[in-house]
Amino acid sequence: MPIEVPPGGFLPPPAVPQPNIFPMEWRVDTAKLADIYERSKRQVWNPSDLPWGALHPERWSREQRVAMMYWWAVLANFDGSGPAVFARATIHAFEQHEEDPVRKCFFAITRDEINHEECCHRAIAALVPGGPLDFAATTDLELAAVNNIGWLYHNGGRYWSGYKKAIEQYPLAILFTSFMMGEVASSTLFRGMYGSCTIPVFREVFERIGRDEARHLQICITILEKDWPGLSDEHKETITRQLRAGFVFLSMILWEPPNQFWEIPDTFLPNHRELIGIAREAGLGVLSYEDQADNWRVAMARVRSLVERWGIEFPAIPELDIDGVDVGDISAEDIIPVF
Ligand SMILES: [Fe+2]
Ligand SMILES: [Fe+2]
Repeated sequence: MPIEVPPGGFLPPPAVPQPNIFPMEWRVDTAKLADIYERSKRQVWNPSDLPWGALHPERWSREQRVAMMYWWAVLANFDGSGPAVFARATIHAFEQHEEDPVRKCFFAITRDEINHEECCHRAIAALVPGGPLDFAATTDLELAAVNNIGWLYHNGGRYWSGYKKAIEQYPLAILFTSFMMGEVASSTLFRGMYGSCTIPVFREVFERIGRDEARHLQICITILEKDWPGLSDEHKETITRQLRAGFVFLSMILWEPPNQFWEIPDTFLPNHRELIGIAREAGLGVLSYEDQADNWRVAMARVRSLVERWGIEFPAIPELDIDGVDVGDISAEDIIPVF
C-alpha cells in the first residue's frame, strides 16, 4: 500500500500545551553533563552490600546507640528528603524541556539519594529498632531525642511546602544555586566524617555518599556555568538570598542551627549538643564544634569564589565572621537547598 498523502498536504497536529513532558526529544547541549551521567551509571553501588552485619550494635551502651541514631535521624532531615526533592525536580526538568543530559543527571541524583536515604534507614534500624520516632522511649535522653527529631521534621515539613512552590516559581539557575549549596555542604560533611569515623560500615557509607555528593556538585556547577551568564540583576539578588538560606538550613547538620527560620523549643539546642556529644564519643565521626565551623567556612569560601565570578554578591554570615550583603530575614519560602 502506498503512503497516503492528503491532497492539501498533511494535517499538522495541534501544539502541545506547555508545560508538558511532550513532545519527546533528546537534545544534547552540554556534552560534559552526558559524561557525568555515564560516570554515575558506572559508579552505582548497593547499600545492602555494605557489611551491616559487622556493626554489632550491642557493643555500645543504649545511650550511645540512641545518640548515634539521633544523628542519622538529623541527617535524614536532609539526605532523606533528597529522593522526593530530586524526583520532583526531574519531572520539572522534563516539563521545561531541559536538554536530555540535565534530565538524566537529575534522575541520577534521585537514584543516588535513594541510596543515601536507605543508609539512614539501615543505620537507624540497626541502632534503635523502631527509630527514629516509633520506639518505646523511656529515659530523659530518649524522650529528648524523640522530641528533637519531631521538631526537626516539623521544620523539614515547612521547607517541603516552600520547595514545592519555589520549583514552579524560580528559573533553574536559582534552584541550582541552592542545590549547589547543598552539595557543597554534603561533600564537605561526608569527607570530614569519613576522616574521623572509627566504625567501619559507617566509614564506608560516608566514603560512598561523599563520592556521590562530589559528583552532584560537579553536575550543579556544570549547569550553573551554562545558566549563570544569562541572569538578571534581580535573579542575582535572589541567589544572594538563597545562599544565606542555604547556610541557615544546612547548618543544622553541618554545624549548629543559627537563630533564623528554625522553629525549635529552648530545650532543643542543649539536648542536641548532649546527644551529638555522645554520638561523637561513640566514634561516629561527628567533628568538634570548632572543626565544623572551620570546614563550613572553607566551604563558604569555595561557594563565594564560584558565585563572585558571575557578579553574584555573597551574603553576610556573621556567625562565621564572613562579611557580605545583609539579606534580612529568611523564611520557609526561601529554603530550597538539599543534599
Ligand atoms: Fe546530593
Ligand atoms: Fe545525598
